[in-house]
This record gives sequence, structure tokens and C-alpha cells, in this order.
Amino acid sequence: MRAIRRSISSMITVVLVATCGWFSGPAHSAGDATAGKNMALACSACHGADGATGLDPTYPNLAGQNERYLLRQLEMIQSGERPILLMTGQLNGKSTQDLENLAAYYASLPGKIGQAEGTDEALESAASIYRGGIARKGVAACSACHSPTGGGNSPAGFPRISGQPAAYTKTQLTAYREDTRTTDGEYGGMMRDVAEGLTDTEIATIADYLQGLH
Ligand code: HEC
Ligand code: HEC
Repeated sequence: MRAIRRSISSMITVVLVATCGWFSGPAHSAGDATAGKNMALACSACHGADGATGLDPTYPNLAGQNERYLLRQLEMIQSGERPILLMTGQLNGKSTQDLENLAAYYASLPGKIGQAEGTDEALESAASIYRGGIARKGVAACSACHSPTGGGNSPAGFPRISGQPAAYTKTQLTAYREDTRTTDGEYGGMMRDVAEGLTDTEIATIADYLQGLH
């Protein structure tokens, strides 16, 4: 029953997003990428000088991610709403303008795509979930919100998920499912609904698929 309710709510969300631009806001850019670059040296130690070659496969790529998503995450990391132990202190004393500049800088860098490693069969099953969801479990199609190429939806601030290292994606999908990535009801809530229906195997398969999706 719960799964069905959730499934209906996910579908309504998708329809609203698709038809009304519910979450879309002004597409203007508030940040100054050059100013952001000057602040990004400390970040590059972990996220790479190109923003896409992290020190560890569990660290996310930031390059080419949309500005709106980046800014929201930076605000939540700074406030502690999304606690990231390794980033403790990194955003201390930074103003909203500083966070906007960092978001603009990373959004301006070219994104990178990796390569999926799974078998044809595994990749086909991931592609099917990506494009069509899993109706019987109420899992909405990823492509509805993250676009067919995984590039996300910049005006809505839905993240680009293609090219992320599989280990990072796997951690995030599991965290949404286990309710340990608990940030805000609206955006995070959509992903917790979606992830609730995924098994460990499905998560691993999709994470690998996304690494190479473009
Ligand atoms: C010591 C390593 C380290 C440093 C330095 C660091 N980060 Fe991070 N960052 C991480 C890790 C690890 C994560 C992912 C944690 C998780 O699994 O949720 C992360 C996540 C993020 C995210 C969320 C990405 C997403 O896709 O949701 C953003 C944005 C970010 N970092 C920006 C920055 C910026 C800007 C700086 C510099 C001011 C910085 N980071 C410095 C390790 C670091
Ligand atoms: C109804 C829209 C919607 C659908 C459907 C959806 N997502 Fe998302 N996704 C989002 C939003 C919004 C966020 C950002 C949530 C937040 O702020 O934590 C997100 C975040 C993510 C993230 C974390 C990105 C990062 O950099 O940390 C991953 C991974 C992800 N989604 C994968 C998927 C997969 C895989 C599917 C399909 C099984 C899917 N999503 C379906 C809207 C959606």
C-alpha cells in the first residue's frame, strides 16, 4: 500500500515537474566563476584540479554540475544539514556570494564521462530502469528528472548524474534509501521515494551504468 502511495506521489511529481516547471526558477547566474576559481584551491585537493578527478572514487565530480544544485548542496553542507565529515571547516566563514562563486566556477568546468564496466545484460537492465523505472515497485524513471543523457535539469536544479564515479553514486542511492541522506523534504524527498524501491544489486548496476552514460 505504502509503495503504491509513494509510486503515485512520484508520478505526480514527475508530471508536475514536466508540465508546470514547478521547481524552475530564474536561469540567471548569480556567481562569478573567476572569483570562485580563486577560492577553489583547497577544494581541488579532494575534488581534483579539473573538478572531475577526485582523490578517491567515493568523492563526487563537481565539474559540469549545474549551478543551482551545487549552490543548494554547498548551503546545506555549510549549515550542517548535509554533514560531510571530510569537508568540516572547508566552508567556514564563506558568504552566500562566495558559495555562489564556487558553484559558478564548478558549473563552468567541462564535465567528464567515465566508462561502465558491467556485462551487456547488467547494462541493459540498468538502462531499462533508467528510462522506464520499475512500475511494480513504484520506482519512477530516472530520465524524467535527470534527462535521457543523465545531464540533469539545470533550471530545476536536478543534478547531473552521468559520469559520477560508481562508488559515489552507490553511496548516495543507498543513503537515500536508508534515510541517511535526509536533506530537505522536497528535493531529497523525491530521491528517498525513488530509492526506497531499489535493491542493492539494482543500485550497483545503475551506479555503474551512470558512470558511462552520455
Ligand atoms: C578533504 C576532502 C574534501 C575537500 C577538501 C572538499 N571536499 Fe567537497 N566533498 C568531499 C566528499 C568526500 C564529498 C561527498 C561526501 C558524501 O559521500 O556525501 C564531497 C561533496 C561535495 C559536494 C556535493 C556534491 C554532490 O554531487 O552532491 C560539493 C558541492 C562539494 N563537495 C564542494 C566542495 C568545495 C566547493 C570545496 C572547497 C571549498 C570542497 N568540496 C572541499 C570531500 C572534500
Ligand atoms: C522526481 C524527480 C526524480 C526522479 C524520478 C529521480 N531523481 Fe534522482 N534526484 C532528484 C533530485 C531533486 C535530486 C537532488 C536531491 C537532493 O538535494 O538531495 C536527485 C539526486 C540524485 C542523486 C545524487 C546526486 C549527487 O550528486 O549526489 C543520484 C545519484 C540520483 N538522483 C539518481 C537517480 C536515479 C538512479 C533515479 C532513477 C532510479 C533517479 N535519481 C530518479 C530527482 C529525481
